[in-house]
Amino acid sequence: MSSPAEIVVDARALTKRYDDDRIAVDGIDFVVRRGECLGFLGPNGAGKSTVMRMLYGFTPRTSGELTVFGMDVARNPRLIKARLGVVPQDNNLDPDNTVWQNLLIYARYFRLPRKVAIERAQVALDLFALGDRRDSEISELSGGMKRRLVMARALMGDPELVLLDEPTTGLDPQARRVVWRTLREMRRQGRTLVLTTHYLDEAERLCDRLILVDHGRVILEGRPAELIAEHAGGVVFEADLTDVAADGAPAQLPAVTTAAMASTGLDHVYESGTLTVYGAGQDPAGVEAAFARIPLPAGTTHVVRRGTLEDVFLRITGHALAEDE
Ligand SMILES: Nc1ncnc2c1ncn2[C@@H]1O[C@H](COP(=O)(O)OP(=O)(O)OP(=O)(O)O)[C@@H](O)[C@H]1O
Ligand SMILES: [Mg+2]
Repeated sequence: MSSPAEIVVDARALTKRYDDDRIAVDGIDFVVRRGECLGFLGPNGAGKSTVMRMLYGFTPRTSGELTVFGMDVARNPRLIKARLGVVPQDNNLDPDNTVWQNLLIYARYFRLPRKVAIERAQVALDLFALGDRRDSEISELSGGMKRRLVMARALMGDPELVLLDEPTTGLDPQARRVVWRTLREMRRQGRTLVLTTHYLDEAERLCDRLILVDHGRVILEGRPAELIAEHAGGVVFEADLTDVAADGAPAQLPAVTTAAMASTGLDHVYESGTLTVYGAGQDPAGVEAAFARIPLPAGTTHVVRRGTLEDVFLRITGHALAEDE
Protein backbone atom coordinates (compact mmCIF):
# COMPACT_ATOMS: atom_id res chain seq x y z
CA MET A 1 0.00 0.00 0.00
CA SER A 2 1.27 3.46 -0.81
CA SER A 3 1.76 5.76 2.13
CA PRO A 4 -0.74 8.59 2.51
CA ALA A 5 0.34 11.74 0.69
CA GLU A 6 2.17 14.31 2.74
CA ILE A 7 -0.03 17.04 4.15
CA VAL A 8 1.15 20.39 2.82
CA VAL A 9 -1.51 22.60 4.41
CA ASP A 10 -3.35 21.85 7.61
CA ALA A 11 -6.09 24.22 8.78
CA ARG A 12 -8.03 23.60 11.99
CA ALA A 13 -10.91 25.76 13.20
CA LEU A 14 -9.41 28.52 11.07
CA THR A 15 -11.22 31.76 11.77
CA LYS A 16 -11.00 35.33 10.54
CA ARG A 17 -12.91 38.19 12.03
CA TYR A 18 -12.23 41.59 10.49
CA ASP A 19 -11.99 44.78 12.54
CA ASP A 20 -15.61 45.64 11.91
CA ASP A 21 -16.43 42.35 13.64
CA ARG A 22 -17.50 40.75 10.38
CA ILE A 23 -16.77 37.04 10.47
CA ALA A 24 -15.32 36.15 7.08
CA VAL A 25 -14.04 32.65 7.83
CA ASP A 26 -15.96 30.82 10.48
CA GLY A 27 -13.88 27.98 11.89
CA ILE A 28 -13.01 25.84 8.88
CA ASP A 29 -10.97 22.63 8.75
CA PHE A 30 -9.18 21.36 5.69
CA VAL A 31 -5.97 19.78 4.51
CA VAL A 32 -4.11 19.98 1.21
CA ARG A 33 -2.07 16.95 0.17
CA ARG A 34 1.11 17.10 -1.85
CA GLY A 35 0.50 16.96 -5.58
CA GLU A 36 -3.23 17.56 -5.51
CA CYS A 37 -5.28 20.42 -6.90
CA LEU A 38 -7.78 21.64 -4.33
CA GLY A 39 -10.47 24.12 -5.33
CA PHE A 40 -12.47 26.51 -3.16
CA LEU A 41 -15.82 27.28 -4.66
CA GLY A 42 -18.37 29.72 -3.34
CA PRO A 43 -20.34 32.89 -4.03
CA ASN A 44 -19.07 36.46 -3.62
CA GLY A 45 -18.18 37.15 -0.02
CA ALA A 46 -18.01 33.47 0.96
CA GLY A 47 -14.52 33.93 2.41
CA LYS A 48 -12.39 32.34 -0.32
CA SER A 49 -9.91 35.19 -0.67
CA THR A 50 -9.63 35.53 3.08
CA VAL A 51 -8.62 31.87 3.31
CA MET A 52 -6.08 32.36 0.54
CA ARG A 53 -4.65 35.51 2.14
CA MET A 54 -4.25 33.69 5.45
CA LEU A 55 -2.47 30.86 3.62
CA TYR A 56 0.11 33.16 2.11
CA GLY A 57 0.53 35.10 5.29
CA PHE A 58 -0.96 38.39 4.12
CA THR A 59 -3.91 38.42 6.50
CA PRO A 60 -3.36 37.22 10.08
CA ARG A 61 -5.85 34.69 11.37
CA THR A 62 -8.04 35.55 14.35
CA SER A 63 -7.97 32.04 15.82
CA GLY A 64 -7.47 28.41 14.95
CA GLU A 65 -4.41 26.65 13.60
CA LEU A 66 -2.78 26.96 10.22
CA THR A 67 0.39 25.22 9.10
CA VAL A 68 1.97 25.20 5.66
CA PHE A 69 4.81 22.72 5.02
CA GLY A 70 4.44 21.76 8.66
CA MET A 71 5.26 25.31 9.86
CA ASP A 72 2.97 27.77 11.58
CA VAL A 73 2.14 30.55 9.12
CA ALA A 74 2.29 33.17 11.88
CA ARG A 75 5.75 32.07 13.09
CA ASN A 76 7.58 31.19 9.89
CA PRO A 77 6.19 33.45 7.17
CA ARG A 78 9.49 33.91 5.33
CA LEU A 79 10.42 30.25 5.17
CA ILE A 80 6.96 29.44 3.88
CA LYS A 81 6.79 32.25 1.34
CA ALA A 82 10.08 31.17 -0.20
CA ARG A 83 8.34 27.94 -1.29
CA LEU A 84 5.04 29.51 -2.42
CA GLY A 85 3.75 30.92 -5.67
CA VAL A 86 0.96 33.43 -5.17
CA VAL A 87 -1.63 34.75 -7.61
CA PRO A 88 -3.78 37.26 -5.68
CA GLN A 89 -7.29 38.08 -6.81
CA ASP A 90 -6.20 41.60 -7.82
CA ASN A 91 -3.28 41.95 -10.20
CA ASN A 92 -0.58 43.66 -8.18
CA LEU A 93 1.94 44.32 -10.93
CA ASP A 94 4.41 47.17 -10.79
CA PRO A 95 3.04 49.72 -13.28
CA ASP A 96 6.38 51.53 -13.59
CA ASN A 97 8.17 48.53 -15.03
CA THR A 98 7.92 46.40 -18.14
CA VAL A 99 6.71 42.82 -18.28
CA TRP A 100 10.27 41.51 -18.24
CA GLN A 101 11.35 43.78 -15.37
CA ASN A 102 8.33 42.76 -13.32
CA LEU A 103 9.52 39.16 -13.49
CA LEU A 104 13.18 39.92 -12.76
CA ILE A 105 12.46 42.28 -9.87
CA TYR A 106 10.19 39.68 -8.32
CA ALA A 107 12.96 37.08 -8.69
CA ARG A 108 15.14 39.14 -6.34
CA TYR A 109 12.88 38.14 -3.53
CA PHE A 110 14.08 34.56 -3.99
CA ARG A 111 17.75 35.61 -4.26
CA LEU A 112 18.14 33.76 -7.53
CA PRO A 113 21.37 34.03 -9.49
CA ARG A 114 20.72 36.37 -12.44
CA LYS A 115 21.24 33.62 -14.99
CA VAL A 116 18.61 31.42 -13.32
CA ALA A 117 16.20 34.34 -13.04
CA ILE A 118 16.54 35.11 -16.74
CA GLU A 119 16.01 31.49 -17.70
CA ARG A 120 12.96 31.14 -15.51
CA ALA A 121 11.47 34.42 -16.72
CA GLN A 122 11.79 33.27 -20.32
CA VAL A 123 10.21 29.88 -19.61
CA ALA A 124 7.37 31.49 -17.64
CA LEU A 125 6.64 34.04 -20.40
CA ASP A 126 6.55 31.34 -23.05
CA LEU A 127 4.35 29.13 -20.89
CA PHE A 128 1.76 31.88 -20.63
CA ALA A 129 2.05 32.93 -24.29
CA LEU A 130 3.51 36.33 -23.39
CA GLY A 131 6.85 35.93 -25.20
CA ASP A 132 6.11 38.76 -27.63
CA ARG A 133 5.12 41.13 -24.77
CA ARG A 134 8.40 41.03 -22.95
CA ASP A 135 9.17 44.72 -23.36
CA SER A 136 5.61 46.05 -23.02
CA GLU A 137 4.64 48.44 -20.26
CA ILE A 138 2.03 47.05 -17.87
CA SER A 139 -0.44 49.73 -18.99
CA GLU A 140 -0.20 48.37 -22.55
CA LEU A 141 -1.41 44.90 -21.54
CA SER A 142 -4.98 43.71 -21.75
CA GLY A 143 -6.68 42.47 -18.58
CA GLY A 144 -6.12 38.87 -19.64
CA MET A 145 -2.43 39.47 -20.33
CA LYS A 146 -1.94 41.06 -16.90
CA ARG A 147 -3.58 38.04 -15.31
CA ARG A 148 -1.27 35.68 -17.17
CA LEU A 149 1.75 37.77 -16.19
CA VAL A 150 0.81 37.49 -12.51
CA MET A 151 0.70 33.72 -12.99
CA ALA A 152 4.03 33.69 -14.79
CA ARG A 153 5.50 35.74 -11.93
CA ALA A 154 4.21 33.20 -9.40
CA LEU A 155 6.48 30.58 -10.97
CA MET A 156 9.70 32.60 -10.54
CA GLY A 157 10.49 30.99 -7.21
CA ASP A 158 9.94 27.44 -8.55
CA PRO A 159 7.20 26.98 -5.93
CA GLU A 160 6.09 23.68 -4.41
CA LEU A 161 2.67 25.11 -3.61
CA VAL A 162 0.87 27.57 -5.86
CA LEU A 163 -2.09 29.58 -4.51
CA LEU A 164 -4.32 31.03 -7.21
CA ASP A 165 -7.22 33.29 -6.28
CA GLU A 166 -9.57 33.29 -9.27
CA PRO A 167 -6.88 32.71 -11.87
CA THR A 168 -9.19 32.94 -14.87
CA THR A 169 -11.81 35.53 -13.92
CA GLY A 170 -12.10 38.00 -16.77
CA LEU A 171 -10.18 35.90 -19.29
CA ASP A 172 -11.62 35.06 -22.68
CA PRO A 173 -12.27 31.37 -23.44
CA GLN A 174 -9.02 30.94 -25.33
CA ALA A 175 -6.92 32.51 -22.58
CA ARG A 176 -8.72 30.36 -20.00
CA ARG A 177 -7.63 27.31 -21.95
CA VAL A 178 -4.03 28.52 -21.95
CA VAL A 179 -4.28 28.82 -18.16
CA TRP A 180 -5.87 25.40 -17.75
CA ARG A 181 -3.13 23.82 -19.83
CA THR A 182 -0.53 25.58 -17.73
CA LEU A 183 -2.09 24.54 -14.46
CA ARG A 184 -2.08 20.94 -15.66
CA GLU A 185 1.56 21.37 -16.61
CA MET A 186 2.29 22.65 -13.09
CA ARG A 187 0.68 19.50 -11.72
CA ARG A 188 2.85 17.33 -13.94
CA GLN A 189 5.85 19.15 -12.56
CA GLY A 190 4.74 17.93 -9.13
CA ARG A 191 3.45 21.23 -7.77
CA THR A 192 0.51 21.35 -5.38
CA LEU A 193 -2.26 23.77 -6.33
CA VAL A 194 -4.95 25.53 -4.35
CA LEU A 195 -7.29 27.69 -6.37
CA THR A 196 -10.54 29.55 -6.03
CA THR A 197 -12.97 29.96 -8.86
CA HIS A 198 -16.49 30.97 -9.79
CA TYR A 199 -16.42 28.77 -12.85
CA LEU A 200 -17.90 25.38 -12.17
CA ASP A 201 -16.62 23.85 -15.39
CA GLU A 202 -13.13 24.96 -14.39
CA ALA A 203 -13.50 23.45 -10.93
CA GLU A 204 -14.71 20.19 -12.42
CA ARG A 205 -11.96 20.03 -14.99
CA LEU A 206 -8.97 20.99 -12.89
CA CYS A 207 -9.59 20.05 -9.29
CA ASP A 208 -9.14 16.66 -7.67
CA ARG A 209 -11.09 17.85 -4.69
CA LEU A 210 -13.45 20.73 -4.00
CA ILE A 211 -14.47 22.57 -0.90
CA LEU A 212 -17.74 24.45 -1.25
CA VAL A 213 -17.89 27.45 1.06
CA ASP A 214 -20.73 29.77 1.89
CA HIS A 215 -20.82 32.43 4.62
CA GLY A 216 -17.33 31.44 5.77
CA ARG A 217 -18.22 27.80 6.38
CA VAL A 218 -17.50 24.57 4.58
CA ILE A 219 -20.79 23.24 3.30
CA LEU A 220 -19.57 20.34 1.23
CA GLU A 221 -16.32 18.68 0.32
CA GLY A 222 -15.41 15.93 -2.10
CA ARG A 223 -14.25 14.90 -5.54
CA PRO A 224 -16.22 16.67 -8.30
CA ALA A 225 -17.63 13.46 -9.82
CA GLU A 226 -18.64 12.14 -6.42
CA LEU A 227 -20.36 15.37 -5.44
CA ILE A 228 -22.31 15.36 -8.69
CA ALA A 229 -23.27 11.69 -8.41
CA GLU A 230 -24.38 12.11 -4.82
CA HIS A 231 -26.20 15.43 -5.01
CA ALA A 232 -27.36 15.85 -8.62
CA GLY A 233 -27.29 12.44 -10.24
CA GLY A 234 -26.00 11.10 -13.53
CA VAL A 235 -29.12 12.27 -15.34
CA VAL A 236 -31.07 15.45 -14.84
CA PHE A 237 -34.28 16.29 -16.68
CA GLU A 238 -34.88 19.89 -17.48
CA ALA A 239 -38.37 20.77 -18.70
CA ASP A 240 -39.09 24.18 -20.20
CA LEU A 241 -42.59 25.51 -19.50
CA THR A 242 -42.11 28.99 -20.93
CA ASP A 243 -44.25 28.35 -24.04
CA VAL A 244 -47.15 26.47 -22.49
CA ALA A 245 -49.38 29.53 -22.26
CA ALA A 246 -49.71 32.73 -24.24
CA ASP A 247 -48.72 34.77 -21.19
CA GLY A 248 -45.63 32.69 -20.47
CA ALA A 249 -44.70 30.10 -17.90
CA PRO A 250 -47.03 29.43 -14.96
CA ALA A 251 -45.85 30.88 -11.66
CA GLN A 252 -46.27 27.44 -10.09
CA LEU A 253 -46.37 23.93 -11.42
CA PRO A 254 -49.90 22.64 -12.14
CA ALA A 255 -51.26 20.71 -9.14
CA VAL A 256 -51.46 17.50 -11.16
CA THR A 257 -47.75 17.77 -11.99
CA THR A 258 -46.77 18.48 -8.39
CA ALA A 259 -48.79 15.52 -7.16
CA ALA A 260 -47.22 13.19 -9.73
CA MET A 261 -43.75 14.53 -8.88
CA ALA A 262 -44.33 13.76 -5.22
CA SER A 263 -45.29 10.15 -6.03
CA THR A 264 -42.01 9.57 -7.93
CA GLY A 265 -39.95 10.50 -4.88
CA LEU A 266 -37.59 12.47 -7.17
CA ASP A 267 -36.32 15.78 -5.95
CA HIS A 268 -37.14 18.75 -8.14
CA VAL A 269 -36.83 22.51 -8.40
CA TYR A 270 -39.24 24.74 -10.32
CA GLU A 271 -37.99 28.21 -11.00
CA SER A 272 -38.71 30.79 -13.72
CA GLY A 273 -40.49 28.33 -15.98
CA THR A 274 -37.88 25.60 -15.70
CA LEU A 275 -38.59 22.34 -13.93
CA THR A 276 -35.42 20.48 -13.03
CA VAL A 277 -35.75 16.89 -11.86
CA TYR A 278 -32.83 15.23 -10.12
CA GLY A 279 -32.18 11.53 -9.99
CA ALA A 280 -29.38 11.50 -7.40
CA GLY A 281 -28.79 8.06 -5.98
CA GLN A 282 -31.22 6.42 -8.42
CA ASP A 283 -30.80 4.24 -11.45
CA PRO A 284 -30.88 6.49 -14.59
CA ALA A 285 -33.31 4.22 -16.46
CA GLY A 286 -35.71 4.31 -13.50
CA VAL A 287 -35.47 8.09 -13.36
CA GLU A 288 -36.25 8.32 -17.06
CA ALA A 289 -39.29 6.05 -16.70
CA ALA A 290 -40.55 8.05 -13.72
CA PHE A 291 -40.07 11.33 -15.56
CA ALA A 292 -42.01 10.00 -18.56
CA ARG A 293 -45.04 9.39 -16.31
CA ILE A 294 -45.17 12.97 -15.01
CA PRO A 295 -48.01 14.92 -16.67
CA LEU A 296 -46.68 18.19 -18.05
CA PRO A 297 -48.66 20.93 -19.80
CA ALA A 298 -48.91 20.71 -23.61
CA GLY A 299 -46.09 22.64 -25.22
CA THR A 300 -43.50 21.65 -22.60
CA THR A 301 -40.17 20.71 -24.10
CA HIS A 302 -37.41 18.97 -22.20
CA VAL A 303 -33.76 18.03 -22.37
CA VAL A 304 -31.89 15.29 -20.56
CA ARG A 305 -28.47 16.31 -19.36
CA ARG A 306 -25.87 15.18 -16.90
CA GLY A 307 -25.76 16.64 -13.43
CA THR A 308 -23.32 19.50 -12.88
CA LEU A 309 -21.69 21.25 -9.96
CA GLU A 310 -24.15 24.09 -10.49
CA ASP A 311 -26.93 21.63 -9.61
CA VAL A 312 -25.01 20.55 -6.52
CA PHE A 313 -24.61 24.13 -5.39
CA LEU A 314 -28.22 25.03 -6.10
CA ARG A 315 -29.57 22.04 -4.23
CA ILE A 316 -27.32 22.36 -1.21
CA THR A 317 -27.46 26.11 -0.66
CA GLY A 318 -30.79 26.93 -2.28
CA HIS A 319 -29.15 29.64 -4.37
CA ALA A 320 -27.10 29.72 -7.55
CA LEU A 321 -23.35 30.09 -7.22
CA ALA A 322 -23.08 33.41 -9.02
CA GLU A 323 -25.60 35.87 -10.28
CA ASP A 324 -23.61 36.52 -13.42
CA GLU A 325 -23.54 32.96 -14.69
N1 LIG B 1 -10.10 43.83 4.41
C1 LIG B 1 -11.35 43.58 4.81
N2 LIG B 1 -11.93 44.27 5.81
C2 LIG B 1 -13.18 43.99 6.25
N3 LIG B 1 -13.95 43.02 5.70
C3 LIG B 1 -13.43 42.30 4.70
C4 LIG B 1 -12.11 42.52 4.20
N4 LIG B 1 -11.88 41.64 3.19
C5 LIG B 1 -12.99 40.90 3.09
N5 LIG B 1 -13.92 41.29 3.99
C6 LIG B 1 -15.25 40.68 4.17
O1 LIG B 1 -15.08 39.30 4.44
C7 LIG B 1 -16.06 38.53 3.76
C8 LIG B 1 -15.38 37.51 2.86
O2 LIG B 1 -14.70 38.22 1.83
P1 LIG B 1 -13.72 37.49 0.80
O3 LIG B 1 -13.07 38.54 0.00
O4 LIG B 1 -12.86 36.54 1.55
O5 LIG B 1 -14.78 36.65 -0.06
P2 LIG B 1 -14.60 35.88 -1.45
O6 LIG B 1 -15.23 34.55 -1.25
O7 LIG B 1 -13.20 35.92 -1.90
O8 LIG B 1 -15.51 36.73 -2.44
P3 LIG B 1 -15.34 37.05 -4.03
O9 LIG B 1 -15.88 35.85 -4.73
O10 LIG B 1 -16.22 38.25 -4.22
O11 LIG B 1 -13.91 37.31 -4.31
C9 LIG B 1 -16.96 39.53 3.05
O12 LIG B 1 -18.07 39.76 3.85
C10 LIG B 1 -16.10 40.76 2.93
O13 LIG B 1 -16.89 41.92 2.94
MG1 LIG C 1 -12.28 36.63 -3.52
